[in-house]
Amino acid sequence: MDKIRIHGGRPLSGSIKISGSKNSALPILAATLLTKEPCTIRRVPDLSDTNYMLQILKHLGAEVERASGTVNIASARIESIAPYDVVRKMRASVCVIGPLLGRCKEATVSMPGGCVIGDRPIDLHLRGFEALGAAVRVEGGNIKVFAPKLTGAVVNLRGKFGPTVLGTDNVMMAAVLADGTTVIEGAAQEPEVVDLANFLNKMGAKVEGAGTRRIIVEGVKELHGTEHDIIPDRIETGTFLVAGAICGKGITVKRADAAHVTAVTNALLSCGYRVETKADTISVFPNGTSKPLEISTEPYPGFPTDMQAQMCALLSTTKGISVITENIFPQRYMHVAELKRMGAQVDLEGSTAVIQGVDHLLGAPVMASDLRASAALVLAGLKAEGVTEVSRVYHIDRGYEHLDEKLSELGAEIERVKA
Ligand code: EPZ
Repeated sequence: MDKIRIHGGRPLSGSIKISGSKNSALPILAATLLTKEPCTIRRVPDLSDTNYMLQILKHLGAEVERASGTVNIASARIESIAPYDVVRKMRASVCVIGPLLGRCKEATVSMPGGCVIGDRPIDLHLRGFEALGAAVRVEGGNIKVFAPKLTGAVVNLRGKFGPTVLGTDNVMMAAVLADGTTVIEGAAQEPEVVDLANFLNKMGAKVEGAGTRRIIVEGVKELHGTEHDIIPDRIETGTFLVAGAICGKGITVKRADAAHVTAVTNALLSCGYRVETKADTISVFPNGTSKPLEISTEPYPGFPTDMQAQMCALLSTTKGISVITENIFPQRYMHVAELKRMGAQVDLEGSTAVIQGVDHLLGAPVMASDLRASAALVLAGLKAEGVTEVSRVYHIDRGYEHLDEKLSELGAEIERVKA
């Protein structure tokens, strides 16, 4: 398994280009199952997660061509069974159920596993499918959904931890070919949900209200092929802005969408950094002594849970006491034990992390555990004195396109070591 080795303390400067959004590409690639006609999706990031999704779609019968960031896909004839050995690798594969149900009126998909950030239930997804008239059975580790016909309905998808992003996507994709109108109350408002709704509407669907808590879908008879450019990845954008804050002299991210990362840029401004946005570029600069922060993760447009670990790394070297409360995935602190091996002072109290900023971190061998925790360890390594080796970097490759190469372009002394 590869490792990433970082010689810390090098100041970052310069600019990098942001890739297309992983969390937008995954549901949009799944949505191509809703039509027999070919679709062209551009700016699909080259990640193991997007590759897993393409494997699943091919297994279901889709014809897929990929040329760098552009994917041409056609699902003239598909089957509706997605087997365990491809589904188990990526939880987000659950978002093929909605389009299979919409197109084939049935789907059999292996139950997605949990993962280190916590139990990943899909009860809200299933509630939505049942509201549309589907029968749902869980047997032998598979989810089976079946509906002689799908009928529009009103469904509330809000759970005890708030809205569900992929649940909103799944129900929207099942509803676009249902008879009648579906109202999704308590919908997720993430930009990736809006990007999916825009893609569905380009295919001939009638989806309104995406980006608000109430989405209305008027069912249509069939959808046609289309072309689409995936939005920029807002979590990659936030990750690089935090890299610029933790050890930058001034870095710029290009091909970004500043409107999607205001919770992150506001947090950096509150910490005392200078942030400048111009068209599709965002720059962050040191600006004297940085200040500690109290943040809570919330559903969009609040501070994103996917940026919590990266912020934890930054606040570990910010003088004073900072407090992070994780409200979406309360157990999402796998990065803390590893940051403490580098000298961070973090106390966990349930879903709250109390961080005492230290003067410096020390490089150490650390282990990645999930996608965003891995990114946090790389960020800490950029700042730490000495050498940090992050093992199990396959976690990073799931969601960041060429992270080490992009950081190297910014002046980091970082290399991928074949283990
Ligand atoms: C999406 O996951 C993202 N993944 C996650 O990003 C992100 O952390 C998450 O949304 C929250 O923003 C993709 O888009 C591929 P949820 P999703 O359903 O949709 C609970 C990354 O790092 N819940 O919005 O699976 C759930 O347990 C990944 O890129 C239920 O209780 O997350 C959680 O506490 C990690 N029942 C909360 O809701 C359900 O049926 C939000 O989960 C579904 C979810």
